[in-house]
Amino acid sequence: MYQPVTPDIAARLQQIVGEKNIIFADPEKLENYSHDEIAEKEYARLPEAVVKPNSAEEIAEIMKLANEFRIPVTPRGAGTGLSGGAVPAHGGIVLSVENMNRILEVDLENLVVVVESGVITNDINEKLKEHGLFFAGYPMSLQSCCIGGNVAENAGGGRAIKYGVTGRYILGLEVVLPDGEIVWFGGKRVKDVTGYNMVQLMVGSEGTLGILTKIIIKLLPLPKAKIDLLALFPDVETAINVVPLIMTKGGIIPTGIEFMDRLSVTTTHKYLGEKMAYPETGAVLLIELDGANQEKLLEEAMAVSELLEENGALEIYAAETPDMQEKIWRIRRNIAEAFKAIDPVQSLEDIVVPIAAIPKLLPILSELSEKYNVLIPCYGHAGDGNLHATIVKKAEDTMENWKKTLPLVLVGLYQAVYALGGTISGEHGIGHKRKAYLPLVMSSTEIELMKRIKRAFDPGGILNPGKIFDLD
Ligand code: LAC
Ligand code: ZN
Repeated sequence: MYQPVTPDIAARLQQIVGEKNIIFADPEKLENYSHDEIAEKEYARLPEAVVKPNSAEEIAEIMKLANEFRIPVTPRGAGTGLSGGAVPAHGGIVLSVENMNRILEVDLENLVVVVESGVITNDINEKLKEHGLFFAGYPMSLQSCCIGGNVAENAGGGRAIKYGVTGRYILGLEVVLPDGEIVWFGGKRVKDVTGYNMVQLMVGSEGTLGILTKIIIKLLPLPKAKIDLLALFPDVETAINVVPLIMTKGGIIPTGIEFMDRLSVTTTHKYLGEKMAYPETGAVLLIELDGANQEKLLEEAMAVSELLEENGALEIYAAETPDMQEKIWRIRRNIAEAFKAIDPVQSLEDIVVPIAAIPKLLPILSELSEKYNVLIPCYGHAGDGNLHATIVKKAEDTMENWKKTLPLVLVGLYQAVYALGGTISGEHGIGHKRKAYLPLVMSSTEIELMKRIKRAFDPGGILNPGKIFDLD
């Protein structure tokens, strides 16, 4: 059904992007573009060609060519995704935006920044520091991911309870549509109800509706005060039960409430070659508070600490200096990598439930772990109900058995989460990793509507096919 990238097509692609910016017939180099950060190899697929265009105009030409010959095109940022969004599920061309990495304009009068889609997310905030501003999206991979991928996946991360996720800050997008037309959606406007909200339709569309080239991002003043509380608990239940209370009983919305179970903490220390200061810890909460006023923030930190103590915290440490804070967050930011390095036979999940249901999640994980004889370490963004339960094969289990067991665990987990008012992905997306499970949590009416939207944008079905759902 799709056509291959022949040497003739490759030559035409090379004419568009230049000799330096194409990889063809070089399996070793193509391999880098065959996977994202998912540990399981089964989701990888080698592209036939990789192109690295320099402009929207070049992308437009690539898309016209791909349409003419019916070749799939998969857009790619930094490849840090976790559901296969940037993986060429049907082969064809991977279109990497890595060369399009300029910060085009810091507009201090409108409090926006305009960037190309291949800019590393952290570079945006580094640039904005001198102006006392920041982009409040906070994907955990911010030092290596790029902003285009964040928008395409509507990346979440560790500060969503207070600041929301990426989409909240996206005001405008330049997009190359699958047929090669270049359009602008939105602009430097805080409000805009002129027609459908095309900007937010693109946000989180996993690279299936268009290729993002320029992004207008709303900025906030950089908070002047910041305090992190690290609270140690004897066990996961005690820790997780406190999470909703901080917001409901305490009346405080922290920047983030991150949860790490014992296995997550020990594995990451080992991976980073660091010694654990408190090896007996059963579970950890990392509570981040920020604001404009240090004194007021200290009061809030005291109130949260009291609540933590009343509810079973063994020890609470306050990290007030950037060095201490960085050390704590370094452990947290590296958990996914640590698990991947130490045990790649696993499935990293990003289930999400309403905050009141957070305490009900952990017992479900224990039940599933026992019933199916798998390990399920857990960490994540507890404050917004988004937890990274990670299903890991036990060393003594056979691969054959694991392959049969994993889908059963996933169905059990997803059904339980759905029954709590949750869903299967809070921040990593569906991609090709979870598409088989979408009908567990979405009606056929909704899935059919999404397919119709996809067909309206991409009648030829060439842009990132095989993601979210299959078009039949
Ligand atoms: C994190 C990634 C896995 O929270 O979403 O570390
Ligand atoms: Zn996460």
